[in-house]
Amino acid sequence: MAEQKAFVTGHPIAHSRSPKIHGHWLSKYGIDGSYEAIDVRPEDFAAFLKSLREDGYRGGNVTIPHKEAAFAGVARRDHAADEIGAVNTLWFEDGVLWGGNTDGYGFAANLDEHAPGWAKNGPAVVLGAGGASRAVIHALKERGIKDIRIVNRTLARAEELGRHFGAGVSAHGAGAGGELLADAGLLVNTTALGMHGNETLAADPAGLPGHAIVTDIVYVPLETPLLAAARARGLKTVDGLGMLLHQAVPGFERWFGRRPEVTPQLRRIIVADIEAH
Ligand code: ATR
Repeated sequence: MAEQKAFVTGHPIAHSRSPKIHGHWLSKYGIDGSYEAIDVRPEDFAAFLKSLREDGYRGGNVTIPHKEAAFAGVARRDHAADEIGAVNTLWFEDGVLWGGNTDGYGFAANLDEHAPGWAKNGPAVVLGAGGASRAVIHALKERGIKDIRIVNRTLARAEELGRHFGAGVSAHGAGAGGELLADAGLLVNTTALGMHGNETLAADPAGLPGHAIVTDIVYVPLETPLLAAARARGLKTVDGLGMLLHQAVPGFERWFGRRPEVTPQLRRIIVADIEAH
């Protein structure tokens, strides 16, 4: 059988850690396959999608800024991609190009690994209303969280997400007070900011109850200011690296036919890479 080929595409793409993750699994499982980073400019993305099959790819990952173009450009989409409005994983099924989104899966799997029972911990407060926030809210809804509070600097964007996700999802502006945190079981930061930039976003973990879990989808640095403050307060914290590792699992399984494991060894490899840069 010919070598099985997959890729990650973005613009820029040089700093993506996905080739390290998939490369580790390919060698660990002895699979004759490759996973390469391909830089594609936005104006070339449609043509890139069209040539995938001819170029012999099983599929690949899509990252910034192509996730919305991939959403529009695939023939079929899975439920998560439709809910999130973006595609991060491509594969062929019976010759048809499919697009899926595994970011919400990765978010939930990371918490399952490091904070089992997290989905039964109470209301969730989500900081931010961008693309990453959509994936997180999708995962929270799928896991049955009935009270999701979006806090965003631009209230209109939070409201738009509230309408999109419907019952149980409320929208709040940056001025929202501590009452949102007082009974929360989970605080999620989806913005690129540390706690300092987020002080106006009710992100101070001091306002959370003692059983609350705090997680950040930002993983550089591994311990963000928000996570450091939560840990200092004695709260359970989960860093964002596991989301990156877990979101890669479903794609690898589709392209290479084996469900890979997220192990401490893989985590160490990626942590070393983060620390080296
Ligand atoms: P992503 O896809 O990573 O979620 P995005 O769609 O650009 O990126 O969303 C960025 C999020 O970070 C938004 O919630 C944004 O708030 P606005 O909707 O008000 O722009 C938030 N954000 C970015 N810079 C911010 C800042 N300086 N203060 C507060 N929030 C900020």
